[in-house]
Amino acid sequence: GVVRAQDASTLTFKSIPQKITKTHAVADGYDANILIRYGDKVVADAPAFVPGAVDAVSQNKQFGYNNDFIAFMPLPIGSDSSDHGLLCVNHEYTNAELMWPGLKDAMGVSQEQALHEIAAHGHSVVEVKKTGGTWQVVDGSKYARRISALDTEMVITGAVAGHDRLKTSSDPTGTRVIGTLNNCAGGKTPWGTILIAEENFNGYFGGDISKTNEERNYKRLGISTDSWYSWVKYFDRFNVEKEPNEPNKFGWMVEIDPYDPTSTPKKRSALGRFKHEGATVILNKDNSVVAYSGDDQRFDYLYKFVASKKFNPNDRAANMDILEDGTLYVAKFNEDGSVNWMPLVHGDGPLTAQNDFNSQADVLIETRRAADLLGATQMDRPEDVEPNPVNGKVYVMLTNNSKRKEANIVNPRVENIHGHVLELTPPGGTGKDADHTADTFTWDIFLLGGNPANSDDKSSYHPGAESWVSCPDNMAVDHKGRLWISTDGAPKSDIPDGMHATDVSGAGRALTKFFFACPEGAEMCGPEFTPDGTTLFVAVQHPADGSTFDAPSTRWPDFADGMPPRPSVVAITKQDGGEIAS
Ligand code: FEO
Ligand code: CA
Ligand code: CA
Ligand code: CA
Repeated sequence: GVVRAQDASTLTFKSIPQKITKTHAVADGYDANILIRYGDKVVADAPAFVPGAVDAVSQNKQFGYNNDFIAFMPLPIGSDSSDHGLLCVNHEYTNAELMWPGLKDAMGVSQEQALHEIAAHGHSVVEVKKTGGTWQVVDGSKYARRISALDTEMVITGAVAGHDRLKTSSDPTGTRVIGTLNNCAGGKTPWGTILIAEENFNGYFGGDISKTNEERNYKRLGISTDSWYSWVKYFDRFNVEKEPNEPNKFGWMVEIDPYDPTSTPKKRSALGRFKHEGATVILNKDNSVVAYSGDDQRFDYLYKFVASKKFNPNDRAANMDILEDGTLYVAKFNEDGSVNWMPLVHGDGPLTAQNDFNSQADVLIETRRAADLLGATQMDRPEDVEPNPVNGKVYVMLTNNSKRKEANIVNPRVENIHGHVLELTPPGGTGKDADHTADTFTWDIFLLGGNPANSDDKSSYHPGAESWVSCPDNMAVDHKGRLWISTDGAPKSDIPDGMHATDVSGAGRALTKFFFACPEGAEMCGPEFTPDGTTLFVAVQHPADGSTFDAPSTRWPDFADGMPPRPSVVAITKQDGGEIAS
């Protein structure tokens, strides 16, 4: 017979209904408090939020739009403090129609609004502290920082630094860039830095790519005259006809030291250039540093990076440039249940001058084309890819692929609208014994999304599953090794986006439960636990999506007249102060 969920799962909360409402919901026995909202003060001299204001200078000091990735970095550095730290938050993109009156989308904005949009992208670092059981942002913190494409200087490191293909009129050295764009998910390193991803950077650029020397490169990344924003109208750097190499400065992973607010962020070209969802780092038993990264596009690939230099547990400074050099691999899945990591190395196989790869810089700038030539496996939109330090396996969120006409072994459903989760197993053993540097892993399907009550969905879970998953996107691992899966796209199936959790082993494997529901229009991002597992931070992105500032479908989280919906970070704690789901 069917194992009863309450007997099988180790997760102690009771699932909440999968029902879309104007506000958020969390499991009984938990508090979900708003910690910081779009427009709230970040740096010490930031002014208060003014609804509908067009003011890039103020915005550049305030919390940006569409919070996505969250990293909790304990204070003091190197501690496992769970009541004091830095919260590092990505701002992926903007919804102009929800920020200002009179707009249907981002295309009708003025130059001043476009500058404000640029300032609302990027990243925020705030200091946070839990006092009396409640989290608060520390006002006037010396760590507080806004990073944006308005004015944050970054350097480009690794093999592409200084390459002709990165030279522009504002940077004849090909080593620098102002800002970062479309920062979706990310990761943390063992030396206390964060990695933030540049995902759909293509949408900010415009102009006729056939007038550049980069037509094949830009076409593969979706850069075209159909820009998603108006920036190209106002600023030459976004027009490929005027600055043909500027897009080559985007599509990278960016490393930031949040403990030093004056540090210069570094784009790590060694991790490749594509629509990075994120990059999650694990320290191998031999102190090798390994990062996993997905390329979020239908039919694109799964990557792994192994740094050349090993981690030094006694010398932070010696670790700060580990990500500058290493080997990037792309995944090829086989029928026999194995997966090969194929190196993307200039001179190997087809990655030669014959195919216009004249150096490793060319391989990295056109990572996708290099991976195409190696015959990598086309996936159903790889989002977060995260190692589970408890069991040593790696979990891959494949969000959906409505355009798949032909199944393959790891993407077994055509027109895959609900997505699925893969489980990769490195050789060597469980937990710390897993060898993430190995060339060959094995793979398994962990769950297939969709509604078990609808046989056409061909979903697959534990028979006692209490919730069903559509469009898995981000994930976190709690310190018991259980997966927390957030979704982006479930409302298309009339259920809210939110947070599911499941065991990975034992009687409750793939028995999903629903913990947190987003308000109408929002997707769920950024799940991040404190080291002791008593707080779960989540990011509610684009509440009221699909409506406008003038008639928002919800005014979450303030619900005040004239106050627009505001993307916000929520801190979830158990009312008895204990560990979440335990
Ligand atoms: Fe920005 Fe792949 O989600
Ligand atoms: Ca998103
Ligand atoms: Ca995402
Ligand atoms: Ca997504």
